[in-house]
Amino acid sequence: DFGLMTHDPGFNNTSSCRSSITYIDGDAGILRYRGYPIEQLADSSSYLETAYLILNGELPTKPQLDAWVHEITHRTMVHENIKKLMDGFHFDAHPMGMLISTLSAMSTFYPQAKNIKDPAMRRLQIARLIAKVPTISAYAYRKRMGLPYVYPDNSLSYTGNFLKMMFQRADPYIPDPIMEKALDVLFVLHADHEQNCGTNAMRSVGSSNVDPYSAMAGAAAALYGPLHGGANEQVLRMLQEIGSASNVADYIRRVKNREVLLMGFGHRVYKNYDPRAAIVKQLAYDVFEVVGRNPMIDIALELEKIALEDDYFVSRKLYPNVDFYTGIIYQAMKFPVDMFPVLFAIPRTVGWLAQWDEMHNDKETSIARPRQIYTGYDARDFVPVEKRG
Ligand code: SDX
Repeated sequence: DFGLMTHDPGFNNTSSCRSSITYIDGDAGILRYRGYPIEQLADSSSYLETAYLILNGELPTKPQLDAWVHEITHRTMVHENIKKLMDGFHFDAHPMGMLISTLSAMSTFYPQAKNIKDPAMRRLQIARLIAKVPTISAYAYRKRMGLPYVYPDNSLSYTGNFLKMMFQRADPYIPDPIMEKALDVLFVLHADHEQNCGTNAMRSVGSSNVDPYSAMAGAAAALYGPLHGGANEQVLRMLQEIGSASNVADYIRRVKNREVLLMGFGHRVYKNYDPRAAIVKQLAYDVFEVVGRNPMIDIALELEKIALEDDYFVSRKLYPNVDFYTGIIYQAMKFPVDMFPVLFAIPRTVGWLAQWDEMHNDKETSIARPRQIYTGYDARDFVPVEKRG
């Protein structure tokens, strides 16, 4: 009974919490940020405008939006020592591992962020993180590739700057407007998603009143898991393993034998088609117009077709989730597969921080302390080692 939870001293950070940010109806396949349908935001908004909405509860006026965009696009630099820290990673370190570690390290660069009861201090750290996570993410890629870091370019859009920091080589890099827009739509779709595993980690770790950099390292670590935000990387590896549409039937057989999972399918909440997946699937074709068709889409479409007609999946209400098609787009945009979870973490930064901020605004918040059902021994007496069997 949800009502009982409100009297739980650990309420708001145990197994349930109150939030006014994101609404999901898993059976109907509905997703809204602050009441606005995801389809309308993906179609008409931008990531930074949607981030403002998620954080503040209302869409910004033009002056508010201009000020917000200026603030974020002018906080993109990171301390030079962050680069020295990232230089220390192993040459083939996974970019998500680098991001998680660097987020945690950032808590030492902003010690004043410990003052989490001051809303203005929280808001300053929120702006810093939204602005700097793309810079650190691009640095992780450049480090992997043995390429020099590219400084942020404040004259570009949020996604245009990220693309430039990622892909600039010897020649000047001008972001393709269709790439910029496609990535912006993908970022809108990933911005928040209620109390998922990563956000729960953010709230749980954050409920100890630790700084947001340390809490976000925990959230990003949860997202790294292959059952969560790491799934988009696993989907691509699954499609590469299948190799061609003609091999799909055999892979489905292996799934039904429980030898493997159909990555990118299923969801704890959606027992219908994930509305984000439908938008991503359509977006793929816009991207292919610019970069050419990714043949992996043929395998994915065949997988979806067979699964949605097979009672094993239908009876378990397994549908494509947000991760099923994103990897195909990212690969077409020339992102390496191990950057895919990082591409999930960048936009989810605002969701994690909005939920963290909401938690600290809620007077009933207390430290997370989930209850357990004890299944161990009853009391028993100690036995000295010489008397043990
Ligand atoms: C994200 O929570 C969020 O909001 C997350 C997210 C977000 O925006 O933050 O939406 C992002 O994490 C999307 C999910 C990405 N993960 C994957 O695509 C990995 C593959 N999916 C599964 O691991 C699974 O579907 C989960 C973890 C996503 C959900 O698991 P549930 O809800 O706990 O479902 P379950 O394990 O209870 O499964 C129910 C049945 C089981 O069969 P039975 O034992 O009852 O016979 O469905 C089966 C499962 O074996 N099943 C699958 C399957 N997912 C569930 N069988 C094959 N392939 C799958 N992918």
